[in-house]
This record gives sequence, C-alpha cells and structure tokens, in this order.
Amino acid sequence: MSAPEPVVTVALDPDWASVALVEDVRRGLGSQPRTLPPKWLYDDVGSDLFDEITRLPEYYPTECERAILRDHAADIVAACDATTVVELGSGTSDKTRTLLDAFTAAGSLERFVPVDVSEQTLRDAAAMLAERYPSLRVEALVGDFTLHLGHLPRGGRRLVAFLGGTIGNFYVEERAAFLGALHDSLEPGDWFLLGTDLVKSTDRLIPAYDDSRGVTARFVTNCLRVLNRELGADFDVDAFSYVPFWDPRQERMDLRLRADMPQRVTIPGADLSFELAHGEEIRVEISTKFRRERLHDELASAGFGVERTWTDADADFALTLARCDG
Ligand SMILES: C[S@@+](CC[C@H](N)C(=O)[O-])C[C@H]1O[C@@H](n2cnc3c(N)ncnc32)[C@H](O)[C@@H]1O
Repeated sequence: MSAPEPVVTVALDPDWASVALVEDVRRGLGSQPRTLPPKWLYDDVGSDLFDEITRLPEYYPTECERAILRDHAADIVAACDATTVVELGSGTSDKTRTLLDAFTAAGSLERFVPVDVSEQTLRDAAAMLAERYPSLRVEALVGDFTLHLGHLPRGGRRLVAFLGGTIGNFYVEERAAFLGALHDSLEPGDWFLLGTDLVKSTDRLIPAYDDSRGVTARFVTNCLRVLNRELGADFDVDAFSYVPFWDPRQERMDLRLRADMPQRVTIPGADLSFELAHGEEIRVEISTKFRRERLHDELASAGFGVERTWTDADADFALTLARCDG
C-alpha cells in the first residue's frame, strides 16, 4: 500500500516573496540601523544550512530541547487533551517526532499541521511525516506565522508548538504582537508549547553562534545571496565579515554582517541604492535569551496561563506549556 499523501495548503500569495521582500528591504536596509528580518535566511540553501547548524556540537539548543522532549513528551500528552498539533516554524520537524510518537502512542491525536515559509523543506517534512504516522492527517501550511495564524485549522483541541527558540528572533514589540495574535487565533482551553533558550554565560553562547566550521557565518551571509538572486542586488558577499555578539542589556545574541570595505549597493528590484561605509553593519538576526519570570509575565499579558515548565539537566533551555485563557 502506498504512503498517505500529506495535504499542503499555500497561504502565501504567489508574489509574497517578492512583495514582502521588497517591503522589508526598503524598510530595513533603507534606514539606520540597517536590518533584515530573519525569515529571509530560510531559502532552500538557508534551510539546509540551519539543519546543519542543529547538528553542530557547539549549537546546544537543539540537543537540550530534544532531551526535554524525550523526558517529558508523555507529561505533555497527559497534560493536554490535544486532537490537533500545530507546529509554527516547523522546518524539518525533526525533534517534533518525539512529541508525535508520544501522542500517537496515547491514541488521541488526529491531525498534525506543520507551518513554515520554507516551502520545499515543509513539503519534504510533510511527506516524511505522513509516511511515518499513517494514522494522522498531515495538513501542512506554507505560510508566515506573523501573517497567517488565521489560516490555522479550527475544531477539536489544539496544541500549538513553537520550538527551537524561534520566538527569540522577534524584537520585544514583535513578540508581544505575535503572542497576542496567537491568543486571538486560539480558543480558550487550547494549548501553547513554547521552546525558549535561557540566559547563560557567553562562554556557551558565543561558540553556539560562531562555530569553528563557519556554518553559522555561511547561514547568516546567505541573506545577501537571497537579495542578489531575488532582487538583482550587487552585494559583494565576500566583502562582509560575520559579527556575532552578546548584548547584555537586551539579553540577546545580535548577529550582524560588517562591510570590510566601503561599497555602493544597488538593489534594482527594490529601487534602492545606498553607500555602506567601511565597518558599517547590517543586523540580520537577534536571538533573545529568556528568564523564567519575564517569559511567564509576557505569556500572562497575552492571555496564556503557564501550566508547567521543564528544563534540561543544566537548565540551558526551557519548554513551557501554557493554556489559552478566555
Ligand atoms: C530557528 S528555525 C527552527 C526550526 C525548528 N522548529 C527547530 O526547532 O529546529 C526557524 C524556522 O522557522 C521558519 N520561519 C522563520 N520565519 C518564519 C515566518 N515568519 N513564518 C513561518 N516560518 C518562519 C524557518 O523557515 C525555520 O524553519
């Protein structure tokens, strides 16, 4: 018998990449300090590089979160009576299989909905998951979790998983907006499972974002290749250095690209050109690290009541299960 086919719905407009990219480039690169949203890191090349990052010995978050899921997946299943699991920013859904294994063993789960902007990675993951879990309906959504939460399926009891510390990529005000929008898209009694990286020593943080093989540097620099390809930009990609640093005030890693020489950049697809001075930086990603109290306060402000928090043995990473209040 052939494997069941996953259903894949595309919520992104066909011209989403071009329209949204142009808006983000004009807003982010056309003003100071120059920035780019991290979602543009995840074309097919970027998604493969991120997958490689998760297997680097220095990149502790993936293994920490995997250990928590391994130790507590059964507790999560017992705590929430979900019939649908949604995963935002699902990527390869690699770790999520531990959770799905526990849910399918308990027999109550009917549907898994992975959501990601990276279409090919999502399609590949959905096909793999449909084969592995023939009893589940796999309904993948190609969408942007800052825009398309209204497309999440309704009915039954839902658990929304947001793993990998991806929430740390939002700025403070974006995070509040996201949590509020997520709350509005859920019903009272639905669940939210959130993976967050915790504040720790820079001895651990810096190597995690500046690995010895240079994979993270290639991942971050890839956003310039995306602009060259999609918008005809003329970034001299080799003339940038990758500069990751810890911002102690904001408690976040700040990942930037620094121009090694002055250059004039032209981006015809965004009708934009500007001078980059020697040493000028473009911020490509932040990765906020959390403290438990701050996280619980933010969740409460958005209408989520924390039910349980689990950490790995060294308390590097936390998984928080919260209930959507009315
Ligand atoms: C840090 S990776 C985490 C992947 C996986 N959840 C994990 O824990 O390893 C972030 C994922 O979110 C996706 N992503 C980033 N921005 C997104 C957005 N605005 N909407 C939907 N997916 C997004 C990326 O394509 C990528 O798969």
